[in-house]
Amino acid sequence: MRNPIIVALDLPSAPVALDLARRVAPHVGAFKVGKELFVAEGPDLVRRLRDTGASVFLDLKFHDIPNTVAKAVAAAVRLDVQMLTVHCSGGSSMLRAAEVAAQETAATLGRPAPLVLGVTVLTSMDTAALRELGGETNLTLQVERLACLAADAGLRGLVCSPLEIEAIRKLLPHSLQLITPGIRTGAEKSDDQKRTMGPAEAMAAGATWLVVGRPIYGAADPIAAARHLLELLGA
Ligand code: C5P
Repeated sequence: MRNPIIVALDLPSAPVALDLARRVAPHVGAFKVGKELFVAEGPDLVRRLRDTGASVFLDLKFHDIPNTVAKAVAAAVRLDVQMLTVHCSGGSSMLRAAEVAAQETAATLGRPAPLVLGVTVLTSMDTAALRELGGETNLTLQVERLACLAADAGLRGLVCSPLEIEAIRKLLPHSLQLITPGIRTGAEKSDDQKRTMGPAEAMAAGATWLVVGRPIYGAADPIAAARHLLELLGA
């Protein structure tokens, strides 16, 4: 079975992140590098993670004019990441530019194109926050609208909350890869994730990949935590 667990390395420095990555790598599918770690440690950290043989998900959520996003995506492809994120709200031209840059740069380098993942509505947004922006105020409709926009622009994957998986699966082709955070086993202490799901439930609902942060990096024994997640997945 393909290991669907992506560990979010929401950690402050390269030594701490690389130490965790080296220990849990045999038990997980990939590592997610987000803004904190990337801004602190830069592309060199990504290269060092890749040197361990791990797959890397660069979660910088690009949102800019199409030309700028295309160049940032091309730079990420040269860094040899396997997944990266863009905001769907950047619009169809930006999304298409991101996907084309991923495909063309990868083809030039003779490697598979990374998965460009669309982020729909941030899970920190509620109806009131949407209303402030104007436009659609129904969260579900806005998520569905942006998901369709991304798929129509050629994106092959989306980041979504576990509670959105079913609706997106009904709307869009099954080949679309869905990456979902908010995974909890019930054994962890409570934190700021409000809309959570167990790993097996999320996979059964149609998730392709599960992003797991604190339940692994915050565990007393991260290897045991990763193995427990795998057991829950029946692996
Ligand atoms: O620690 P935890 O498992 O909650 O980490 C989840 C990861 O997924 C974090 O890196 C968080 O930023 C990210 N994420 C999220 N909710 C979203 C999008 C990303 O929790 N809607």
